[in-house]
Parts: sequence; C-alpha cells; structure tokens
Amino acid sequence: MRDETLNQQLLAWYDRHAREMPWRVPPAERAKGVLPDPYRVWLSEVMLQQTTVAAVKSYFEVFTRLWPTVSDLAAAEDADVMAAWAGLGYYARARNLLKCARAVVADHGGQFPSDPAGLLSLPGIGPYTCAAISAIAFDAPETVVDGNVERVMSRLHAVTEPLPASKPQLTALAAALTPAQRPGDYAQAVMDLGATICTPRSPACGICPWSAPCKARAQGIAAELPKKTPK
Ligand code: ADE
Repeated sequence: MRDETLNQQLLAWYDRHAREMPWRVPPAERAKGVLPDPYRVWLSEVMLQQTTVAAVKSYFEVFTRLWPTVSDLAAAEDADVMAAWAGLGYYARARNLLKCARAVVADHGGQFPSDPAGLLSLPGIGPYTCAAISAIAFDAPETVVDGNVERVMSRLHAVTEPLPASKPQLTALAAALTPAQRPGDYAQAVMDLGATICTPRSPACGICPWSAPCKARAQGIAAELPKKTPK
C-alpha cells in the first residue's frame, strides 16, 4: 500500500478517535488553521517524558493556571516551580524547564523559535522535543519517534531486528510515512494508535485502522514486536 494511503487511513481514524488532552487542539480545529501555543506544547512534552498522560494532566493544568505564558514562567521563583513540579519526578527536568523559559525570554523575545536549529539551541530541548514542537505547534513535517511510534512501525513493517539496533530503521520508516499535510495531527495520531490500540500486550488489531496493511498481524507476530536486546 502506498504511504499516502496509509497515512490518510490513520488521519481519518484520528479525526474520529483523537484523545482529548488539555494541551491539544482537536483535529477539527486544526483543520481551520488553529494551532496550539508552542509554550503549552513544549510544557506538555517535557512533562510527558517519563510520565504518563493521566499523571501529567493535573500538573499541566496547575502550571498553565499559575504561569499562562512562557514569560510568566521565566519570571517565577525557582522554589515555586520546584514545588509545583513535586511528584512528577526527574527534577532535572524542572530545572531545565526554568532555564529554557528564561532563554526564550532573554534570547527570543518571549516567543519559541519555529525553526529546529533555534529550538535545539534551548536548554533541555533535544531531537525528540524539537520534533514534537515543530510538528505539533508549527505543523512542520518533522517526525516524532517515541516508544509508541517504534512499536507501531516495528509491527506495521514486521521489523524483527531487536531494539535498540533497529532504531535507525524504525525512524526511517516513520519518516517515510510523515505526510506534508497535517504532520502535527499525524504525529499525535501515531502516538494515540500506540497508546490505545497498538498496545504492548494484546493489541486490538480488530479495530486498528492499519490492520489490513500490518505485516506483523499477517504473520501472527504483532504482540511479539518490537523485539528487544536484553540490557
Ligand atoms: N506523549 C508524548 N507526547 C504526546 C502527545 N502529544 N500526545 C500523546 N502522548 C504523548
């Protein structure tokens, strides 16, 4: 099946099944040209590193109520931010959060840069967060690859080589599927598919928009992928 057909099938599924999250703009709104505030996308992506969506929601609400803009966060007292972060863990993330907010204000006039090089120059923004902000907040055709995406790609293409050696291949497969239109919706659609249908155990292949083209399903090995080299 052609890549365009594949990603259109996934986007059609996302239009009906996108999960609502406080930092998201739903696909119907994005279709009208509404994009989310890069500050909110950045904040959510930093919080979602090593923390589940369910746990992040209430922290995100508190942070955006206390500090509605990146300038508000940059002006916050360190101790107040650390206190609001308490319970999320990985406290280096909170310290980097403040450093990044202050750099956005000091070096970028309080606006997140829209180009990948500008984003990557900011404290705590690596390739993953850069791609997520570029795709979700700016609708740039960047490919977001997290554990969900690796699992979905390994199954769709029946990649039996174990992680982490297969990472470059899975990244290339994900990039080949990234559409020029709606890359932000596409990035979030693959994550939602991985979180709700193409789950690590007992994937719900019967209701998957990619069940027909899925090579692992055809071979009966979906639940066994991705293989992992023991650490
Ligand atoms: N995990 C990390 N970023 C996410 C997002 N934007 N949507 C859902 N899950 C995520």
